[in-house]
Amino acid sequence: MPCTVIVGGFFGDEGKGKIASYLALKDRVDVAVRTGSVNAGHTVIWRDKEYKLRIIPSAFVYEKCRLLVGAGANINVSIFLKEVELTKCHGRIGVDYHASIIEEKHIKEDRGDKYLAKKIGTTGQGVGPAIADRVRRKAKLAKDINELKPYLTDVALEINRALTNGKKVIIEGTQGTFLSLYHGTYPYVTGRDTTASAICSEAGVGPTQVDQVLVVFKAYVTRVGAGPLPGELPPEEAEKRGWAEIATVTGRRRRAAPFNFDLARRAIMLNGATQIAITKLDILYPEIAGAREFKDLSSEARKFISEIEEKLKVPVTLIGTGKGVYDIIDLREEKLKRK
Ligand code: IMP
Ligand code: MG
Repeated sequence: MPCTVIVGGFFGDEGKGKIASYLALKDRVDVAVRTGSVNAGHTVIWRDKEYKLRIIPSAFVYEKCRLLVGAGANINVSIFLKEVELTKCHGRIGVDYHASIIEEKHIKEDRGDKYLAKKIGTTGQGVGPAIADRVRRKAKLAKDINELKPYLTDVALEINRALTNGKKVIIEGTQGTFLSLYHGTYPYVTGRDTTASAICSEAGVGPTQVDQVLVVFKAYVTRVGAGPLPGELPPEEAEKRGWAEIATVTGRRRRAAPFNFDLARRAIMLNGATQIAITKLDILYPEIAGAREFKDLSSEARKFISEIEEKLKVPVTLIGTGKGVYDIIDLREEKLKRK
């Protein structure tokens, strides 16, 4: 653990929220940092309640965890305040002075722009236009906003101090590798780099401070909005297989395709992965739903996991087998022994 980066390996919606919340509880994580913005929806099912978090770290489920939003993040103030209320995390959440602000005009621009809204199929949350204003050096920052005053902090300093003191830190990325502005399927991408290095940069953590890069892959691939999706299934087929998901933020239907080893291999490379988490294995193999030990997987499911490890040469340490935070097989102890 001490510093683990969680990154999406495909096009977002891999289940990073569930993985981050599990790690927070299981490892008693001291500090969790969210990067990115409100275009992301991270779903956490905790104590029979479903949370769809767009800016608060998914680690909120562990009540002793300090929650932070990094300098590279873009904040919609009203969404942030609503989520603070929803998760009751007043008093333990901090926002970096330099996080930038999404204003109404950015949302209007995103939704009204034929290119962004129609051709790219953005989420319409104003994230791209807000980042553009930041690049133009015209953006408002968190320190300029009265309502954020109680939350302001130096996130980079907090994280690095925590690491110096031997504390456990997770940094939660958003979207997925192939939505990266640099490494994704440009122009069908989001407005920022989404890979592990950029996640660290947004939080203010140098590469030498990172111990584990956990790449999260769903057992199949989904994508919302426009852009290439190799092996895309017709919607009826996706429906039949139970892969037809509805997007958290926009309510759009997600496009679906089978697990893609070429993309996965590239994601491993781009992120410098040290571990893999596979989520939603129970959607592929319903007979394994709720399994918490590897021996309880069917031989088909085990074969799939072995194939991933053989082809990608990185250990699969976490396997999601259901919706709840604890529906997971945790193999870290046996697979990371040599560390
Ligand atoms: P934007 O990030 O709203 O500018 O949208 C750019 C592209 O990224 C569109 O195809 C969106 O559907 C996609 N996208 C943005 N955020 C997410 C996410 O959290 N999950 C999945 N796709 C996303
Ligand atoms: Mg999502």
